[in-house]
Amino acid sequence: MKLIEDRYAVIGHPIAHSRSPQIHAAFAQATGQAMSYERILAPLDQFAATVTAFRAAGGRGVNITVPFKLEAFAYANQRTARAQAAQAVNTLRFDAESILGDNTDGAGLVTDLIANHGVVLQHQRVLLLGAGGAAQGVLLPLLETHPACLVIANRSKDKAQALAARYSNVTACGIDELAGESFDVVINATSAGLHGATPNLPHGIYSTHAFAYDMLYGAQTPFLQSARAAGVQRVADGLGMLVEQAAESFLLWRGIRPPSRDVLAALRTNA
Ligand code: ATR
Repeated sequence: MKLIEDRYAVIGHPIAHSRSPQIHAAFAQATGQAMSYERILAPLDQFAATVTAFRAAGGRGVNITVPFKLEAFAYANQRTARAQAAQAVNTLRFDAESILGDNTDGAGLVTDLIANHGVVLQHQRVLLLGAGGAAQGVLLPLLETHPACLVIANRSKDKAQALAARYSNVTACGIDELAGESFDVVINATSAGLHGATPNLPHGIYSTHAFAYDMLYGAQTPFLQSARAAGVQRVADGLGMLVEQAAESFLLWRGIRPPSRDVLAALRTNA
């Protein structure tokens, strides 16, 4: 007899590149969960209809990626505190009447930094580059690690100010105003790397034992290359964040924390 599998999916546009099916298949296998996980390409103007159709067909939950995280926030009828803070949703769970929206991106980032890379955030000076959706999704979990300070720097200063204004303990500035500042942890949440670029940071921005983290993945992202060129020895790309945010989604859906470190190691080997 074939087990009935619970259905999950990742929805985005584009979606063909997504590594989430591979990650969730590995989690399901490691934890013995009977579930399937597929990619769904939603037309740009059909996000809600696409989710509704998946639910009607028995879907139990979805991950949401670019460009639908704001629409997913609106689609949910219940939201976790971290989704509320992010004003964006990357995970939906479907129960009888409820559509729970969560945002696991920030937890994924913080877990990757602390558990996988041994980075200390508490009492450290943390700089977050960018003020778009990627930055917005991770602010609350970063703040909850109690850094000495959290600064958002963005090319357009007004966007950083608008984002920082939602929190009492975040400061904002333009990337061109960073001269003379120094940070222990620098996190790139800009999309510059997608265009082969990186924010132009002043000399001295990295403290002596600084850690540089790119939320994009790939060993040679422009940001990580520039950090290495600035003498930073401790760097990491965002592959671990991808796996850890998936692990948080899996926990929300299945009530089981999967072995994310093993899956990350396997993914790196096969990268
Ligand atoms: P995402 O959802 O991926 O964060 P977004 O909302 O379009 O995408 O935001 C992109 C972010 O990358 C913004 O902070 C953007 O800066 P601006 O607000 O000034 O546009 C930043 N960004 C993109 N290209 C950049 C570059 N070449 N240098 C510095 N910042 C860049």
